[in-house]
Amino acid sequence: MKEDLKDILFSEEVIRERIAQLGVELTEEYSGKPLLIIGVLKGCFMFLADLSRHIDLDCDIRFLTASSYGFSTVSSGKVAFDKEIDWDVEGRDVIIVEDILDSGGTLTALNAFISRHSPASLKTCTLLDKPECRSVPITADYVGFECPNEFVVGYGLDYGEKYRNLPYVAVLKPEIYA
Ligand code: PRP
Repeated sequence: MKEDLKDILFSEEVIRERIAQLGVELTEEYSGKPLLIIGVLKGCFMFLADLSRHIDLDCDIRFLTASSYGFSTVSSGKVAFDKEIDWDVEGRDVIIVEDILDSGGTLTALNAFISRHSPASLKTCTLLDKPECRSVPITADYVGFECPNEFVVGYGLDYGEKYRNLPYVAVLKPEIYA
């Protein structure tokens, strides 16, 4: 697996430190209010597991599964996700947690979907942001790291369902997906 990687972009230590800061920011922002956290699977699983341990608030942690990349390195443009949720959003402070904001299609679709359920507030948090790749104009409220326009894997992010278990974020060698 490691022979497929070009460089480590964000090391375990750097990620750990940044996530601890994000946890403090979120704890201060919502100060004492209960928070509904919606994780976007599958990519968010590692980030949210670590981030949630740094949020000192009453949290209800739920998940939605969204997918638009399949086995490609570019978004299909069609975001598929389950529109049946069996938990309440109305009147609650909500934060959507993503691993990466790339074209912006996924977060835009999820924001619109959750907004229709009348939350008291709705914010977004992503570990990685690739602003150069945006095809839909959206920004996240909380960003771990700005990411260069390279195909990255690890710490939850995959290529063809592989590499999610790497403990850091790395650039995949282009010949792997060429
Ligand atoms: C990835 C990632 C985000 C989304 C971001 O999900 O986890 O949800 O793409 O890309 P966008 O800004 O271009 O929409 P993917 O569809 O690969 O599913 P996965 O989380 O199961 O890997």
